[in-house]
Amino acid sequence: MTSRILAISALGLLLAGVLPAQKKGDAAKGKEVFDQCGVCHSATTDEKKMGPSLKGLFKKSKLANGQPVTDANVTAMINKGKGTMPAFGDVLSAEEKADILAYLKSI
Ligand code: HEC
Repeated sequence: MTSRILAISALGLLLAGVLPAQKKGDAAKGKEVFDQCGVCHSATTDEKKMGPSLKGLFKKSKLANGQPVTDANVTAMINKGKGTMPAFGDVLSAEEKADILAYLKSI
C-alpha cells in the first residue's frame, strides 16, 4: 500500500516537472504549424500575400486593427480570423497556438 502511494506521488512530481515545460511555445514546432498560414502570410520577406507579412510582427507596436501586439491579441486574431482569414480557434490546439506565437516572436 505504502509503495503504491509513493509511486503515485512520484508520478505526480514527474508530471509537475514536465507539464509546465510543455505549455511554453516551441518555435521550431511553430514553424511547422505555420505551414497552414504560409499560403497567405510571408514570414521571411515583407511581401504581402493574401494577408500582410508577419515578419517582425512582435517587433511592431500595433496590429493592423490598432491593438497592441500582445500574446492575447494575436491569439484572438488566430482564433477568430478576420475578413478572408479563416478562424483557427477550433483547428489548432492550445499547444500549437503557443508554438506559433513562439515562432512569430522569432521572425
Ligand atoms: C486564407 C488566407 C489566410 C490564412 C490561411 C491565414 N491568414 Fe492571417 N490574415 C489574412 C488576412 C487577409 C489578414 C488581414 C485581415 C484584415 O485585417 O482584414 C490576416 C491577418 C493576420 C494577422 C494580423 C496581422 C496584423 O499586422 O494586423 C495575424 C497575426 C495573422 N493573420 C496570423 C495568422 C496565422 C498565425 C495564421 C495560421 C494559423 C493565419 N494568419 C492564416 C489571411 C490569412
